[in-house]
Amino acid sequence: METDGFAPAKINLCLHVIGQRPDGYHLLDSLVVFADIGDRLQAAPSETMTLDLAGPFGADIPAGEDNLVMRAARAMDAVPMRITLEKHLPPASGIGGGSSDAAATLRLLARLTGRALPKPEQVLALGADVPACLLAAPLRLQGIGERLEPLRLGPPVWAVLANPRAEVSTPAVFRALTRKDNRPMPPRIPAFADARALALWLADQRNDLEAPAIAVLPSIAAVLSALSATGQCLLARMSGSGATCFGIYPDEAAAREAEADLRAQRPGWWIAACRFALS
Ligand code: C5P
Repeated sequence: METDGFAPAKINLCLHVIGQRPDGYHLLDSLVVFADIGDRLQAAPSETMTLDLAGPFGADIPAGEDNLVMRAARAMDAVPMRITLEKHLPPASGIGGGSSDAAATLRLLARLTGRALPKPEQVLALGADVPACLLAAPLRLQGIGERLEPLRLGPPVWAVLANPRAEVSTPAVFRALTRKDNRPMPPRIPAFADARALALWLADQRNDLEAPAIAVLPSIAAVLSALSATGQCLLARMSGSGATCFGIYPDEAAAREAEADLRAQRPGWWIAACRFALS
């Protein structure tokens, strides 16, 4: 029995804010993909439900019942487990770390206990990104995160993720957003032959949270320019509500070179080359 789970980093290749609900949540139209890097989970039956934190960012997230992993485990109503979360993704950074951890917990506990995986719409209460992370495949996200359309858009693409090592509060970024009725994505997203075609199409799309996030944390602008300045960067944009930004590259060699250059220039930043699936 497989006792470990993978919680991939989520990347919003574009994120359009197209409205707001009466309860304050924002209506989004976003192209979401998942990377081959992420957090790791392990679970084993135990007398009590416990969570151990490990990995480079294990000390930076809440332990105990406040952690989304514990909330997801409670929602599954599973037998008590000792869960270990190896945290490799920087927290509160726009790449869905907590949501992806919650989704990976649901997948892992469903597998270990033989229970059915909850439907995506049943896990929205854990966080607006949790339904998407439960699918963990390329998709168009609409509504506040409950309308999900899986997509098959082409071969995998190489990217570099960069974070200035400062946490950003998602509600603060939404509060700093001035215009809430922006243009959605086109009705149909085309297939992309390669990274260049994807970057060309994305250049006409946006992340509407980029400007408000920069107002909250100005160093995000430096991350975007540093990524844009790397050789062969096809497009640089922020993911989610920041502060992590991504650059898209034509191939693995270009992404690895950009990763090495950025690490040399910015030893204090978190920088990681990765590949994301588009199908
Ligand atoms: O659902 P989650 O806990 O991830 O959302 C964090 C906060 O981000 C919410 O409390 C809300 O302020 C904001 N949010 C929003 N619209 C969304 C998703 C999140 O306004 N679609």
